[in-house]
Order: sequence, then C-alpha cells, then structure tokens
Amino acid sequence: MRYFGKKSMIAAALMATTSMAQAADVEVLHWWTSGGEAAALNVLKEDLSGQGIGWNDMPVAGGGGESAMTVLRARVTAGDPPTAVQMLGFDILDWAEEGALADLNAVAAEEGWDAVVPAALQAFAKHDGKWISAPVNVHSTNWVWANKAILDELGIAQPGSWDEFVAALDAVKASGKTALAHGGQAWQDATIFDGIVLSVGGVDFYRKAFIDLDSEALGSDQMVEVFNRMATLRGYVDDNFSGRDWNLASAMVINGEAAFQIMGDWAKGEFLNAGKTPGEDFLCFRVPGSAGAVSFNSDQFAMFGVSDKDAMSAQGAMAASIMSPSFQSAFNVVKGSVPARTDVPNDDFDACGKQGMAELAAAAEADTLVGSIAHGHANRASVKNAIYDVVTAHFNGEYDAETAAEELVTAVEIAQ
Ligand code: GAL
Repeated sequence: MRYFGKKSMIAAALMATTSMAQAADVEVLHWWTSGGEAAALNVLKEDLSGQGIGWNDMPVAGGGGESAMTVLRARVTAGDPPTAVQMLGFDILDWAEEGALADLNAVAAEEGWDAVVPAALQAFAKHDGKWISAPVNVHSTNWVWANKAILDELGIAQPGSWDEFVAALDAVKASGKTALAHGGQAWQDATIFDGIVLSVGGVDFYRKAFIDLDSEALGSDQMVEVFNRMATLRGYVDDNFSGRDWNLASAMVINGEAAFQIMGDWAKGEFLNAGKTPGEDFLCFRVPGSAGAVSFNSDQFAMFGVSDKDAMSAQGAMAASIMSPSFQSAFNVVKGSVPARTDVPNDDFDACGKQGMAELAAAAEADTLVGSIAHGHANRASVKNAIYDVVTAHFNGEYDAETAAEELVTAVEIAQ
C-alpha cells in the first residue's frame, strides 16, 4: 500500500463515510498470536467478512507489541504501510505527529464516538482534535490470576494485602508447586511493576514518578520499596522463567502447575480459551495493595494514510465495525478486556469481566485510573524502554533495590 501525505488523509475521511467505493481487503498488523488473542481476533475477522471485507493477516508475535512496532517502522519507511495497525497509547500519538495516520473524523462523527469513548482513551485516539484511531478495548495490568484448586487445597484465602500475598506465595512454594508463574521478558517484568508501584505508593506516587517523571519520586525510599517487592516476587518464580512467553505462564496456572500469575487481563482470554470459569477454576483480583486503582492500556487500530479508494473505504468500515456496541461486547468477552465504549451492557461478560467494567468506571470517576507504564500509556517509547531496562536488570539480579532506584532516575533523565 503506497503511503501519501495529508491530502489523501482527508480523502480517507470522505471515503470512510461513503459506500460508493467497493470495500477492499484490509491488511492488519498486530501481535495477537496466543490462543485467547487469536480467538478474539476471529471475532473481528468474521465481523468484517460479513461486510465483504477480506482480512490480510500480518501477525508479528511478541507480547506487548515491541516486535510489531519494529516491523511497522520498517514497513512505513519502505513506503508500504499496512492498512491498519494494532497500537498502544503514546505510539499512536508518535505516528500521528508524523502525519502518517488517516483522519477518522467522518466515521467518528457519523457513529458518535465522542459521546461514548472515555476521555482517558480519547487522549490517545485523537490528535489535533482529529480521531486517528479506533479503540477496541480497555485492558488493565494490575491483576492477579489464581488457580482456585491450589488455593483451596492449601487453605489459602484470596490475599487482600501485600503481606497476605507473600504468605500465600510462601505456602504454595512450601507445597512444592510454583508460587508465581512468570515469563522473564522485559515487558512482563514491567507489567508486574505497574501493580507493585500502585501497591507501594498508590496513584499519587505512581503519577508523580511515572507521569510527571519527578526525579525525587523516581529515586525515593518508596521506589526502593517497590524494587524490594519486585525482588521478593523474584524469589517465587520457577527456575525456567527466563524468556517464557506470557501465555505459557498463564498455562501453568490454568493446568495447576502454578498458583498465581501477575498479568494484564489478556491472561483471562487464555483461561476462557481453555474452557475455565471464573470463581470455579480461577480467581481474578487486583494486585494486593493496588485495589481501587486501575492501570490501563487500550488496544487501538490506527489506520495509515493510503490513497487507494477501496482501501480507504475498507478502513472506514473497519473503524465503524470496531466501535460498534455489538462488536465491542462480542470481542471483549473473549479477549479478557472491557469495552472501550461506556454504553455497552455487561450482560455477556463473566464475573471477572463485570468486575473489570465496574472497577474501570469507578476508577475513572474517582480519578484513580492511570496509564500503564509497561504498555505505553504513561510515557513515550524512549522513556518506557528506559524503565524496562532498569526494571528487568533489577529483576535479573544486576542491581539491588537502592541501585535500581538510582539507575531509574538516571535512565529516565537520559531518555527524555
Ligand atoms: C498488550 C496488549 C494486549 C495483549 C498483550 C500481550 O500490550 O494490549 O492486547 O496483546 O499485550 O501480548
């Protein structure tokens, strides 16, 4: 697909509202390659197929999307961007600032997106007052997923506080099972970090350190405690955790090898894909100490500026599909996330989904909703990657907690 400048983007907006052009196939770059993710993606593929829009799949494996964004950069540099791309937070704004994205205002106006998409998502879906991507969901990262049979067998109640969580981890470890299922990849270490920052210092500390990038907060005693807790968790993973993909860690909890996983709620998609039921087979609860706060990341599909009229029409149709209430329910029920729209009923969602929707609404209302550090909703990629480097170096034993906090101050300063 040839990439053209602004003229074509306005044309894209116009084409998005017309049905004259025959919708073409959409080439979609994404990183949804696990069982649960693929099941959710099929909902979108089938939705578009029902409109005569074919799907040209461009999966780039790698949780968290780092590899996908690298491939995207190469495609755009080669003047051959995909029709649509799964993107997160600040990555969307970076591409919008480069003038690379189509203007979706026409379809947004036609479908009334402004009235139903929360401000926290619009902050990443609009640039210079224009809609430049379609938010498909809201995930959140400060979740724990637990194998209920193991907890019942060991007489462990759902932990509420950090100390109760550590006691539970201890009890599982003593039983010979893996206490904490984890994949040793920087983005996964950082995903745990989101919830631990909230558990130590709450949203005020989280915002001061990771939204304001305040050096004092980044190097504070509270931050040392965050790294101490990360080191505590390091003591509960199995010997083969390094490099493990996130969904394989989820599988350890699903099949009873491990008791807990701290992971975003895309993990629930794996439990559902394995036929498991919340409250019967597994528990979902907020990282102990972080309840009341939600660290979120929204998957959005950004449409790249193209000149082909059929492609523009397909982009508009895809954006309209993504944002339809029926799709938002059907997709998110499978994905483990909650709808990006606030007007989708929770009827089809399971107990964890209903809890997630209620907690998201409550956090937005109470101003305790924060963008995930690990998944590109707190800072630009350069700062996010600098944080990844320090968090994963510490998790792998290169730094003690005090040194990690000092390194964090330096790394963030350099990355800005
Ligand atoms: C997140 C994304 C989720 C899921 C997860 C694991 O960044 O928002 O949809 O793909 O990565 O890869």
